Amino acid sequence: MKLLGLMGSPRIGGNTDILLDKALEGAAAGGAEVEKIVVDKLRISPCREYYGCLRDGNCVIRDDMDEIYPKLIGSDSVIVASPIFFYGLSSQLKVLIDRCQALWARKYILKQDLHDSNRRGAFIGVGATKGKQLFDGSILTVRYFFQAIGVTYINELLLRGIDKKGEVKGHPEALEAAYELGSKLFRKDG
Ligand SMILES: Cc1cc2nc3c(=O)[nH]c(=O)nc-3n(C[C@H](O)[C@H](O)[C@H](O)COP(=O)(O)O)c2cc1C
Repeated sequence: MKLLGLMGSPRIGGNTDILLDKALEGAAAGGAEVEKIVVDKLRISPCREYYGCLRDGNCVIRDDMDEIYPKLIGSDSVIVASPIFFYGLSSQLKVLIDRCQALWARKYILKQDLHDSNRRGAFIGVGATKGKQLFDGSILTVRYFFQAIGVTYINELLLRGIDKKGEVKGHPEALEAAYELGSKLFRKDG
């Protein structure tokens, strides 16, 4: 079982990074083969709406997304982890997600089978403030992203009031919840 973790924060060793590592640790302990992608380190152009993908499901832009598409399609589970930036996902993640219009085209325009029957996904979000709607925009985006790539949104971990770099380390219950989220992704009862 392969699990792909998309680390959406530019801050290495920050809250998102720590939480995703915990989730991947939980999944690995359950036997999953895990891979973490630090999205900020990739060279990914935003979608330019060339719409080459409508012809054959492939983006005409050549950059690091070339390696990400097969990983997204080939994994059994996906975790999207992001800090909340202006009530949304980080722009690093949003650029990657927008480029998945090519996979959306495969599914909805070209009616290709993405082998999506049992693929499961989860979202980890962390923000500094405590508003009720803090995660609403990001959840909608992640849900729609998962739908486009043939993954079912099954779980989320949403943490409010966490701001400084590494502050989440002072919240052992959050770290445990992240570990549990990772291990549950591969359990039938999860
Ligand atoms: C550009 C930017 C925008 C942010 N916008 C929000 C926001 O809308 N709401 C919020 O609660 N926190 C916001 N924050 C705070 C981060 O979500 C918070 O510091 C988070 O813990 C960072 O996680 P990281 O360490 O994984 O990068 C913002 C931070 C930055 C740098």
